[in-house]
Amino acid sequence: MDTKLLQGKKIVVGVTGGIAAYKAVEVVSRLRKAGAEVHVMMTREATEFVTELTFREISGHPVAQDMWAKVQEYKVEHIALATLADLMLIVPATANVLAKTATGIADDLLTSTILATKAPLFFAPAMNTGMYENPATKANISVLKDRGIHIIEPASGYLACGVEGKGRLPEPAEIVQEVLDYFSETQSLQGKKILVTAGGTEEALDPVRFLGNRSTGRMGYAIAEAAVRRGAEVVLVSGPTSIPVPAGVRAIKVRSAREMEQAVLSEYDSVDAVIKSAAVADYRPKEISSQKIKKSDGELTLTLVRNPDILYELGQRKKNQVLVGFAAETNDLETYARKKLEKKNLDFIVANDVSAKDAGFGTDTNRVQIFYRDGREESQPLMSKAKLAGLILDRLRGYWDEMSEGIELFPK
Ligand code: PMT
Repeated sequence: MDTKLLQGKKIVVGVTGGIAAYKAVEVVSRLRKAGAEVHVMMTREATEFVTELTFREISGHPVAQDMWAKVQEYKVEHIALATLADLMLIVPATANVLAKTATGIADDLLTSTILATKAPLFFAPAMNTGMYENPATKANISVLKDRGIHIIEPASGYLACGVEGKGRLPEPAEIVQEVLDYFSETQSLQGKKILVTAGGTEEALDPVRFLGNRSTGRMGYAIAEAAVRRGAEVVLVSGPTSIPVPAGVRAIKVRSAREMEQAVLSEYDSVDAVIKSAAVADYRPKEISSQKIKKSDGELTLTLVRNPDILYELGQRKKNQVLVGFAAETNDLETYARKKLEKKNLDFIVANDVSAKDAGFGTDTNRVQIFYRDGREESQPLMSKAKLAGLILDRLRGYWDEMSEGIELFPK
């Protein structure tokens, strides 16, 4: 276990009344061993399963339990721990605490603290299978997930109530690993500035029409959001889309390929990496009519001229920046992706088959192959764009790590 990772981190562990409460003792112990300062909060029901004294001894701090008690160590406010926490972990989380949190009920110290804190929240549900599978519990979990609360999936197995099924608390080591992963993820791109392009471009024909493409921006916005969560400074150059700009991201909105080119070049010298997931028009109408083009009986012929290849230009001007391209292909994916990797002087390229129904444009999922400069490649199964965004950023982090160790990963 990485002992430094949790050094200086303040973690508030909320213990609720379930048979798995005894496992929370080991969770607290492991968090402390990993360097965290741990404060435990118990519901009254939890004290029926494990004593306050046990947690006090294991955490090294008084246990907060009664909303009205005068806990010596914390100031007057009953929610003092809400502001102190860098992360709050509810283990085990009963169906009751999930339901209260989903509806905003704050009728004891723990639920008041959950409601008041701005710290990331992790819930490790543990309960009888019937309760876990009840539509009410499922709906509550889904509400919590939508609010960005982390749910540590319960395991399947033999439950205390005598049945086999889902609802068992995962092993303490696995729970602590989720916390470690969270902190390592949130810090992994600190100090890095990343430029992401997203969405499609629009090439005007006249004041009301344009040539566009099917990109929705989902892939690029997922990357920008994940990069900010990992601590990077993120500039998002985006074509028109209805997706809101993720918190913490600086967005530059553009329409045409040439506007995108200008925006990207103005930021290029100051960034550490560019991830170019935008779908850029290769051609634009030679002329833009200043008035709406009127229909006539005959055919209409448009003359198109080449747009700049932005990524190619970046490859030519590259200094220390890592360049990550995308390749949208409908056939011969590997051949075309490798050509683009080479021609545009990229470090790696993420290729998607955009003829698939569940991948590429407009979907929430994607299935990609990644090709690297040194000839390596990897195929990834279908996954959400959010998950793929994290994977691409892991590869980028891995690239920097290997470079700092002096290994030339992608020799020129
Ligand atoms: O936005 P979504 O709906 O989520 O869809 C995601 C996506 C399908 C758009 C995305 O996954 C994707 O494949 N993006 C790249 C689309 C594309 O333009 O690919 P390309 O193979 O034509 O271009 C190769 C690379 O060169 C791309 O990184 C592209 O941004 C860049 N390029 C292309 C043309 C051009 N004139 N300038 C460029 O910079």
